[in-house]
Amino acid sequence: MSTATVHHAYNDVVATYYDLDPQGIIGRSLDRGILQLRQEGLLDPGVELRILDIGMGTGLFLGKFAAQASGRIAPYGVDLAENMLEVARRRLPDLVAVAGDASDLDAHFPGIQFDCICTHFVTGFVSMRVLAPQIARRLKPGGYWSLIGGTKAAYAALQSKGNSGLLRRLAGAGDRRMDDRVLNPADLREVEATMDAHGIEVRRGETFEPELAFEDFEAFMDFGHRGGWLTPLIEEMGLHKAGPLKRWLIDRLAFPVKDSHNIVVALGRKR
Ligand SMILES: C[S@@+](CC[C@H](N)C(=O)[O-])C[C@H]1O[C@@H](n2cnc3c(N)ncnc32)[C@H](O)[C@@H]1O
Repeated sequence: MSTATVHHAYNDVVATYYDLDPQGIIGRSLDRGILQLRQEGLLDPGVELRILDIGMGTGLFLGKFAAQASGRIAPYGVDLAENMLEVARRRLPDLVAVAGDASDLDAHFPGIQFDCICTHFVTGFVSMRVLAPQIARRLKPGGYWSLIGGTKAAYAALQSKGNSGLLRRLAGAGDRRMDDRVLNPADLREVEATMDAHGIEVRRGETFEPELAFEDFEAFMDFGHRGGWLTPLIEEMGLHKAGPLKRWLIDRLAFPVKDSHNIVVALGRKR
């Protein structure tokens, strides 16, 4: 998937809508990440922490962190989409943020080391394998990597409906498979192995599997397109441009759908 497609999706479609968090999965996942940091004592460290959020979006996580930490934090962020960062800057007045590509992390904030680096719902766009060596270089010894992200086991019901030839044609999916377009890790074990291979000891790890319910096509688009979960993929397929007849047919053939997400929430510490 091209960087231009991803930039357009978050900058022009999602930015003003993201914080509405349809189905509440972003908020609940980030809360689990905060809990892991709390369990490691990072919300009450006694010193100011320098924290970098890669693909930070609208700054929801650092906002939660700042609100719950006992002391001050120094927040840094990188994101492709200027309009997502604009929301983040309003949320975090001290934020030092740059618009840029996370896959080139070495180029951002040169010479600065961090106490904690976050990658939340961005490892579908920039693979862990690209991020891990760069993150390992930028963490202070004993610094933490908080990873939250979907796995290849997400959306099993939607993926199985997507195997129907008629639906694939209607939706404009062509040869695209979610797995080919999204670089997510397979599961928690892959996340743990990648961290470990880069000198990062996994301290906490869980798989969060919240239920998803899509009453109809509109509810799915609310979540998947405007909500930011599958926006670049949907834009690539042109599904957001479907006319009334196509929408009606997809509604009849595919919905309602009950599904589940599959999200790894992990916290590693640099040895
Ligand atoms: C699903 S949102 C997650 C936002 C935030 N981390 C959160 O958990 O709420 C994905 C974010 O990653 C950003 N992103 C995607 N690819 C990126 C890349 N290559 N470099 C930097 N940011 C990227 C998008 O612009 C978007 O803001």
